[in-house]
Amino acid sequence: MAITPPTDRLWWKEPLSKTEITWISIAFAWSIIMFLAMIYWHMTGEQNLSNEAYRIKPEVFAAKAEAMVEQYQVGEEGDTGVPVVHPPPGSDVYLIARLWEWWPVLELEKGQSYRLHLSSMDWQHGFSLQPTNINIQVHPGYEMVLTITPNEAGEFGVVCNEYCGIGHHTMVGKIRVVE
Ligand code: CUA
Repeated sequence: MAITPPTDRLWWKEPLSKTEITWISIAFAWSIIMFLAMIYWHMTGEQNLSNEAYRIKPEVFAAKAEAMVEQYQVGEEGDTGVPVVHPPPGSDVYLIARLWEWWPVLELEKGQSYRLHLSSMDWQHGFSLQPTNINIQVHPGYEMVLTITPNEAGEFGVVCNEYCGIGHHTMVGKIRVVE
């Protein structure tokens, strides 16, 4: 019975029973298989994006985004006042997440590659690109970098999918892909 102490105080020094060692072996083998499956599925299942993460101070990230906007702004989004930028293909593009907006609107060219940097100015947000199934957590103090090559023209919504307070549902942005 488990509620009474073991009669032999050194119970852990007893030899393993055959059943025990069998189960430990099965569990160990299974954990190795599951571990390898993560790597295998990343390569072949296209389930996880290959991205990079670096430490960065919010103000440093903001400065880079602002520099990009200053150089490549082509307009403003509706009456929101959010700038629209058209950075050159192959360049580093920055998207700021903050309460409660995605800034700025990126205009990218179809078939061209970009290094997309994502970071937060305040707390955790979620980058969800609609209608594609791309989800990235966006944290303050870190930048997530992914290499993207849009293969379809159109307007793609950026929705925040981590609850971030009273304005969470209004935190929507846009990435525009042009031919
Ligand atoms: Cu940002 Cu929810």
